[in-house]
Amino acid sequence: VRSVEVAGNLFWVGVKDPDLRVFDINVKTDYGTTYNSYLIMGEKKALVDAVKFGFQDDFLSKIEEHTAVEEIDYLIVNHTEPDHSGCIPLLLKKNPKLKLFCSKPALPFLKNVLNDASVQIEGVKTGDRLDLGGLTLEFQSAPFLHWPDTMFTYLVEEKVLFPCDGYASHFSPHDGMFYRPGDQVVDHAAWYYYDCIMRPYAPHCRKATEEALQKEISVCAPSHGPINNSEPKRFMQKYLEWTEVKKLSDKKLIVVAYASSYGNTQRLAEEIAATMQKAEVDVRLFDVAATPESEKRDLLEAADGLVFGAPTFVNDIVKPMWETLLLLPTVSTSGKRAATFGSYGWSGQAPGMMQSFLQSIKIKVYEPLLKARLVPSEEDLQEAATFARGFLEFLQEN
Ligand SMILES: Cc1cc2nc3c(=O)[nH]c(=O)nc-3n(C[C@H](O)[C@H](O)[C@H](O)COP(=O)(O)O)c2cc1C
Ligand SMILES: [Fe+2]
Ligand SMILES: [Fe+2]
Repeated sequence: VRSVEVAGNLFWVGVKDPDLRVFDINVKTDYGTTYNSYLIMGEKKALVDAVKFGFQDDFLSKIEEHTAVEEIDYLIVNHTEPDHSGCIPLLLKKNPKLKLFCSKPALPFLKNVLNDASVQIEGVKTGDRLDLGGLTLEFQSAPFLHWPDTMFTYLVEEKVLFPCDGYASHFSPHDGMFYRPGDQVVDHAAWYYYDCIMRPYAPHCRKATEEALQKEISVCAPSHGPINNSEPKRFMQKYLEWTEVKKLSDKKLIVVAYASSYGNTQRLAEEIAATMQKAEVDVRLFDVAATPESEKRDLLEAADGLVFGAPTFVNDIVKPMWETLLLLPTVSTSGKRAATFGSYGWSGQAPGMMQSFLQSIKIKVYEPLLKARLVPSEEDLQEAATFARGFLEFLQEN
């Protein structure tokens, strides 16, 4: 495979990895992926992003169709994750004069990736420009798409946006490197990529996208999957749709999610939900073992308040509740508040374990938690009502 001309003096020199089936442990890649790198041949020569280690031969031979690596002046590092930074040490070995540009938050990342104090690195911020002689790069900070270090780069004269992992897809085209309008497989791959990788940072994605859409864009050149020159803003506009907060209610929304074998925790959950329903809030009560995963993710993401109830089984939280809690890091949870409760027989660790987990993923949790031994008594139910009212107040505190 050879390099691909993207615009005047701009070439795709990336690599294809069509057989990859899992990316970053968690992400299925049924269509493989690509690691895109771009070579810009101004008076000064620049590369935007490198590729994963292991693909260096393919990468270097594509670059060498246009220039010797020793002749490249700059490397723009939009993101320091190894799928884009893995070959930087090799580039530096061939060309120690290569100067790197990255976002300011990326500086410590790059230091810890390269472990080489002799490398020239400059931190840049939104609006900073790099003159290549006849061509100009402009940078945009885009933190948390999907690491704190990420930024976008824009080639001003050709109106090309390099958003790195933004608007990307894990899809390795059989031939060519361009998006074909109406390609539903790529459309789905772009959604799946957003859903797996970007969704926890939805507010950040939205902000960066709104900012980038201010620019005229004739090519969107991400670092995975096809380059879009026919509908360059397609996936940027999709990100505006996907990041929109799905309002399920005009009032504050509280989700009461429970697991229960003999109805004891369920009884507490019902009392909590019934008490909350008397206030000006919307309450959704559901059994975690009987609710589909995608519905749970949407509910958890839309909720302002999250109340989790689980019995203790063998000193543990039951599996469907763990599986539900583990959905939280896959969606945007900023600003949410939680509470935990459960029925138990003797040791009763589950509510405390849920509380610790929630706190460790930076969700504020209401205290005290609520525990009731075996079948909830009248007194336990009154405590559940007090717990519910306490949580409502906790939710009002800013
Ligand atoms: C298989 C099993 C294991 C249990 N292990 C514990 C335990 O380790 N600690 C504890 O406090 N209760 C334990 N229990 C008791 C339950 O927590 C208790 O029966 C609780 O009321 C069940 O609530 P539920 O009806 O909402 O499921 C266990 C119950 C079962 C069925
Ligand atoms: Fe990444
Ligand atoms: Fe990536």
